[in-house]
Amino acid sequence: MLKEKIIREILNKGYEGEFLYRFGKNFGNLYDNFEKLYGDKLGFEEHVYQLINQIYNSYKTRKEELKKIDRKREDNPSWYMGNDIVGTMIYTDRYNKDLKGFINKIDHLKELGINYVHLMPLLDMSDDENDGGYAVKDFKKVYHKFGTTEDLIEVANELHKRDMLMELDIVLNHTADIHEWAMKAKQGDPKYINYYYFYDNREIPDEFEKTLPEVFPDTAPGNFTYVPELDKWVMTMFYRYQWDLNYTNPEVFVDMIDIISGIANFGMDILRLDAVPFLWKKMGTISRNEEEAHIILRAMKAAMRMIAPGVLFKAEAIVEPYEIVRYLGEGKYDECEIAYNASFMVFLWDAIATRNARIVRTGLNNMARLPKGTTWINYVRCHDDIGLGHDNNDIYQVGYTPQEHRRYLIDFFVNRFPNTFAQGVTFMENPKTGDARISGTLAALTGLEKGVHDNNPELIKDGLSRIKLLHTAIMCLGGIPLIYYGDEVGHFNNYGYKNVPTEQMDSRWIHRPVIDWEKMSKKDKQGTVEYEIYHSLKNAIKKRSELPEFTNENDFEILDYSHDKIFSFLRQKGYNKTVVLINFSENTEIISINVLDRLGVAHNGYYDYLTGEALDIRDGYIYMEKLSILWVKVR
Ligand code: GLC
Repeated sequence: MLKEKIIREILNKGYEGEFLYRFGKNFGNLYDNFEKLYGDKLGFEEHVYQLINQIYNSYKTRKEELKKIDRKREDNPSWYMGNDIVGTMIYTDRYNKDLKGFINKIDHLKELGINYVHLMPLLDMSDDENDGGYAVKDFKKVYHKFGTTEDLIEVANELHKRDMLMELDIVLNHTADIHEWAMKAKQGDPKYINYYYFYDNREIPDEFEKTLPEVFPDTAPGNFTYVPELDKWVMTMFYRYQWDLNYTNPEVFVDMIDIISGIANFGMDILRLDAVPFLWKKMGTISRNEEEAHIILRAMKAAMRMIAPGVLFKAEAIVEPYEIVRYLGEGKYDECEIAYNASFMVFLWDAIATRNARIVRTGLNNMARLPKGTTWINYVRCHDDIGLGHDNNDIYQVGYTPQEHRRYLIDFFVNRFPNTFAQGVTFMENPKTGDARISGTLAALTGLEKGVHDNNPELIKDGLSRIKLLHTAIMCLGGIPLIYYGDEVGHFNNYGYKNVPTEQMDSRWIHRPVIDWEKMSKKDKQGTVEYEIYHSLKNAIKKRSELPEFTNENDFEILDYSHDKIFSFLRQKGYNKTVVLINFSENTEIISINVLDRLGVAHNGYYDYLTGEALDIRDGYIYMEKLSILWVKVR
């Protein structure tokens, strides 16, 4: 058999022992998955050899200092499961001009307690529209406005010197239409035409369109774009200038291994795999979350285990709760280690709008738990819109109807009710279906922005409470919290995007702030909103790191299933226990002290670990202030 033949050959090649060891451990997995995808293709054997050569070359060119990190992590495979990692994500240019400028601000991040940085796409892209860098022109080069490839490597070094982690995107699903492969395809090169999905006429595209949803229905309707140079249609599920890569072609897979390892070899610790649900297309389906998309990821993981085993995969799969967890391997497969907990993010916003805990509790309760060795990114905001990706069953279960409930949430956050505090805007409202997603910064969606503009102290106070509640909530569920840049001091919506030709058709730019360093400096000035947000966040980060029960490998346990407004859960590791209580209501609420049973009897009183203050307990009830969160412990 081919597999055995290859193993014998490789073992006799005189490769480094380390490589052979990793090869031995992972080749079976790689081969089996690769075969599932391409076993019936002409020239399969040759493709396997190409793949192995690629993997070995990538291993060879990996720098010794990165290999040292790999070895340390191989010895400590749960190195990312602690309660000490706190992430952020940043647009280099909007933060501090360019990569060199970013280096000057690393200590600023460190001061807050951030030790993991995702720099948004910064590889070569068009000066014109580029979907925020998610349309890559050259995966091997840094975009000229941000600096050079050397600058990027220096950023990774500077972060590593400070024990910080770095992440970049791998835009796996598509390239820009000006990427070298696309350009060659446009010139008629058959090899590269085969890198994308091209069709001579509308016949197949029309068939696909019957079941394919639209990602950007408003500004990029349809999933195919006409290419006049070839008189053909190419598949473009995102913007027309983002051409979907054809993963039924094994050459695409092999080339992507080159690209993934190249980016890892810049010094990345984590790779954010963009838009992974879209990797495999199948006629007659929505072409999301196909089994083959998972097989591709498993094969990529196996390859990276040979090249750079210290590097983690983070799946960007913003899909239904039961689909998201599949990207973490379901405890059966080696796929991605990290995924965005988009469900928790949506549940939190749901609770803010409904002022109750029904969905957050039911949704989390119904969600599959994390497979061993995998973890969440817990976040409140990111660079993308908020899509209301609840599981409809969760919505029914709490007694709402999905369509009406989503309508309510959208209207609420985009300020279509007389008295809402939220100042979001719609993203990709689809008149055909009534669907919409939501854009807006944390400060805008929580009412702080409106409070400041209206000079309304009550609204400001509530906005600050919501921000504190949300930031603190993502610190304690289990997983890696991720703070969106600018939110540490509550940046407002950036309405200026409407005047920028390359941004005006995409409302996500409203919440991609250009950092105002003067505003940022108010974090040190007591009495300002910036000070309030920054210091409560800094405190929560620090307090989390002190509590072993907040490490990731242990689960959360929901306590009271009946309280409408207060969400309660236990985190426990050995004797270390914390009960988290979150009051989503805009009134003082009470909950029976029985919710603390699992903490044991408190001879000297229960207290909130965040503030050190005793709980307000009267007649067997805990009194919780409106919009508040407590980390309850026993003295
Ligand atoms: C991901 C990114 C998003 C981008 C899309 C297409 O969803 O987060 O910003 O538009 O992929 O690459």
